[in-house]
Amino acid sequence: MALSTQPYKGARDFYPEDKRLQKYMFAKWRQVAERFGYEEYDAPILEPLDIYLAKTGDEIVNEQTYAFEDRGGRKVVIRPEMTPTVSRMVAARRQELGYPLRWYSIPNLWRYERPQRGRLREHWQLNVDIFGVKDTSAELEMIILVDAIFRSFGAKSDMYEIRLNDRVLVDYLLADYLGLNEKSRQTVSKLIDRMPKMSRSVFISKVDESLTAKQREAGVTEKLLALLDAKKLQDLPAEAQKQPSAQELKTVLDQLKAAGIKTARFDGTLMRGFDYYTGVVFEVFDTNPENNRSLLGGGRYDGLVGLFGVAPVPTVGFGWGDVTLANFLETHRLLPALQPETDVYVALIGDVSHQATPIVADLRQGGLNVAVGAAGKKIGDQLKNADKKGIERVLIIGETELKNGMFTVKNLKTGQETKVAAAKLAKAIKEA
Ligand code: HAM
Repeated sequence: MALSTQPYKGARDFYPEDKRLQKYMFAKWRQVAERFGYEEYDAPILEPLDIYLAKTGDEIVNEQTYAFEDRGGRKVVIRPEMTPTVSRMVAARRQELGYPLRWYSIPNLWRYERPQRGRLREHWQLNVDIFGVKDTSAELEMIILVDAIFRSFGAKSDMYEIRLNDRVLVDYLLADYLGLNEKSRQTVSKLIDRMPKMSRSVFISKVDESLTAKQREAGVTEKLLALLDAKKLQDLPAEAQKQPSAQELKTVLDQLKAAGIKTARFDGTLMRGFDYYTGVVFEVFDTNPENNRSLLGGGRYDGLVGLFGVAPVPTVGFGWGDVTLANFLETHRLLPALQPETDVYVALIGDVSHQATPIVADLRQGGLNVAVGAAGKKIGDQLKNADKKGIERVLIIGETELKNGMFTVKNLKTGQETKVAAAKLAKAIKEA
């Protein structure tokens, strides 16, 4: 039986046209992150299992990691996310680094998920994190940066919605307001996190199951539903609105509005799957019903760096996957027609490789990316080859051209041809 040509399930091959799209997205990500003063870092794709066991979220560690033992008997994981890694790196140089520390990275991550639209087993994820800022100016900067990235792709603000919640506020609501013990708080938080994946009635019955009979009779489920239905902070009970966490969230929302970001709102159902978040959490959703999904997510996690045995560092950051971004751009018709990297294809007529070499070298010296056709191939085949690669401009070099010192530059798209002297070739190609 012939070997399969398919890549591993849930993972992608990047043919040049796919890579071109990826390069376009990454370039914008890098450009905006750097415009905000973030520096790029990277790290190994393998990490010791321990750093995920410490604090990440059960689902990702128990069900979604590619974990194995290396030949030396060490338990390792192919990183499913970057946050524990970047925290480890910051902790390693806790004293030397200058704060606020602004770092970004675009790692390839692996999670053993059921592949579906927007979810694969492998994805690239922009991670932007700011370390060393306690107050909400960090959250504000992060969301303004996210918004700037959207705009750099040509997105309009009605194409996405930024939703915010706060872990401390959630804890207050579940523990103090509803009176849930730690175990039911955990169960209910996970249920809320998975709420979009189940019907309301299933959600209600699962919540009921996690409560005591007394709590059910006291109407805890109904109270919880009312909290989750709140569309604005002002819909929450008055005592909840007085909590410092709610006030803080209000400050962030007000400041975002003042910064011209009108699409941000409170969402009491927003949980974020990870255990490490300690304050404001946020996610951005596509508003198009055809792609009604979360595009990116993040929040404040003040405790992770401290797990590595150093004084804690307050941190805010987010992760944004390439798959969800590509789906978003496609849904909103924001994908540009991407040009191949090659500027010109040199078609050779007859055995002229030798004489063509210095001309090609000159063009490359002049800043052009040049691909050369195979000598001995029919001119028609060479033009077809250029066309297949999407290269618009062709330079024809043959015996006659070399003798006369005049060359044909052809635009395959418009069909236009010009005869140009060798010295003016680079300019003519750029203008063709
Ligand atoms: P996350 O919500 O697991 O957060 O992932 C962030 C984003 O990565 C998602 O919104 C989505 O765009 C993308 N993503 C995640 N899993 C997949 C998948 N299986 N296939 C395709 N795309 C995916 C985190 O990973 C946090 N560590 C983010 C963070 C950074 N928090 C603070 N700093």
